[in-house]
Amino acid sequence: MRARAGNMDFACLWLGLLLPLAAALDFRYHHQEDMEAFLKRVAQNYSSITHLHSIGKSVRGRNLWVLVVGQFPKEHRVGIPEFKYVANMHGDETVGRELLLHLIDYLVTSYGKDPDITKLMNSTRIHIMPSMNPDGFEAVKKPDCFYNSGRGNYNEYDLNRNFPDAFEHNNVSRQPETLAVMKWLKTETFVLSANLHGGALVASYPFDNGVQATGALLSRSLTPDDDVFQHLAHTYASRNPNMMKGDQCKNKMNFPNGITNGYAWYPLQGGMQDFNYIWAQCFEITLELSCCKYPREEKLPYFWNDNKASLIEYIKQVHLGIKGQVFDQSGNPLPNVIVEVQDRKHICPYRTNKFGEYYLLLLPGSYVINVTVPGHDPHLTKIVIPEKSQNFSAFKKDFIFPLRRQSDSVLVSNPSCPLVPLYRAMPSYSAATKPSLFLFLVPLLHMFFK
Ligand SMILES: *[C@@H]1O[C@H](CO)[C@@H](O)[C@H](O)[C@H]1NC(C)=O
Ligand SMILES: *[C@@H]1O[C@H](CO)[C@@H](O)[C@H](O)[C@H]1NC(C)=O
Ligand SMILES: *[C@@H]1O[C@H](CO)[C@@H](O)[C@H](O)[C@H]1NC(C)=O
Ligand SMILES: *[C@@H]1O[C@H](CO)[C@@H](O)[C@H](O)[C@H]1NC(C)=O
Ligand SMILES: *[C@@H]1O[C@H](CO)[C@@H](O)[C@H](O)[C@H]1NC(C)=O
Ligand SMILES: [Zn+2]
Repeated sequence: MRARAGNMDFACLWLGLLLPLAAALDFRYHHQEDMEAFLKRVAQNYSSITHLHSIGKSVRGRNLWVLVVGQFPKEHRVGIPEFKYVANMHGDETVGRELLLHLIDYLVTSYGKDPDITKLMNSTRIHIMPSMNPDGFEAVKKPDCFYNSGRGNYNEYDLNRNFPDAFEHNNVSRQPETLAVMKWLKTETFVLSANLHGGALVASYPFDNGVQATGALLSRSLTPDDDVFQHLAHTYASRNPNMMKGDQCKNKMNFPNGITNGYAWYPLQGGMQDFNYIWAQCFEITLELSCCKYPREEKLPYFWNDNKASLIEYIKQVHLGIKGQVFDQSGNPLPNVIVEVQDRKHICPYRTNKFGEYYLLLLPGSYVINVTVPGHDPHLTKIVIPEKSQNFSAFKKDFIFPLRRQSDSVLVSNPSCPLVPLYRAMPSYSAATKPSLFLFLVPLLHMFFK
């Protein structure tokens, strides 16, 4: 007995030593090696709630790391929505990169201690990519607030102009970083996302490009989900004391409440947020987090203070609206079923994933949900989404169809949306829709922010 007790003491001592200590990440810039070391340490220390993987390589062969955080980090679970943050796609916009490392640190060290964070991580799978453009970050020679090398990737392509565009042909050579992200978006059913930039202070929401049908004649370009996007941008901006003021940068920009429609600010082609919304069924906004693109390290603690509440509250929005599964009469989940809200049709219809799941981000209210199995009549259901509770779950509603999965060949085909300028097919499209003012402003503004 005595010997066993002694062994147990010894075991406890060992366990104590092996238990993760508070990571205490420092406030300085982490270059690729440091960042990798940090991510690997976190993945080791918190192996049950994290999963580290690389989604591909940069031009120079640097890994594009993603750390997944959550109760089930290694794979999707039915009912748990996928969320992501991507930073540093412009290599010289560095605040987001460090904020995401601090966010990782905060999430893993709060799990099991802070009930709110624990619930969030239990109910959400959070993907964090601190740098989409590691080559650009390493290429910055003399950090400057405005003019840096390193905005583009190693081939000097602006990655936020490098995605397929739904509004016009953008004949660009697609870069490895872009292709890696496009592939990644196909592997997960992302529901909500933000990409983190610098050079201004504003939360900007889709579209970034547009045509007459989306409001371009009125110098803006709106999605059918504009109420949700305004809410999302507002959720972020209203918790950041400087962003919400709208005019804190010395460049005469003024954004009421710290939010703006992307096109209304300035149009751009081939952006990542429009691509996410149109082709990946994922609502994404663009966050400009600092007037200075590459501020001094001493400022980093202030940025963390200003953004911490926003970063957390924004993730919670993945639980807005309604979610569920579509089944056949025998209870098999049905993939590729179109599930949309009447009057907010997406140009590439949003479809159930291989688990028959759908997620629709919606504000509280009454909606008609249109569930359409290809080749069958639409099935319309009125639903009421109750006022938001801090429940960490969207309103749940499953649908059952009186058919058999195996007998329906339509479901086997892969109905991916074509990569063409889809909006050109819209009735009111006209090539001459852009306000000519922008033709002069765009080349100037182009260089600087999102
Ligand atoms: C991981 O654990 C080690 C040893 O317990 C500790 O020194 C280190 O700070 C931890 N690192 C992180 C990133 O959590
Ligand atoms: C989170 O999940 C863990 C593991 O399933 C469970 O033990 C814990 O009670 C949950 N915590 C909260 C706050 O939901
Ligand atoms: C696209 O650009 C490449 C070279 O950059 C050119 O060879 C090709 O003809 C272009 N294609 C179209 C359809 O404009
Ligand atoms: C329901 O959705 C299908 C597929 O997108 C569409 O063809 C149909 O017009 C929609 N029906 C209604 C009443 O909105
Ligand atoms: C919270 O969510 C659960 C399951 O998703 C549901 O059963 C419950 O009624 C919800 N509670 C509130 C207060 O909305
Ligand atoms: Zn940018």
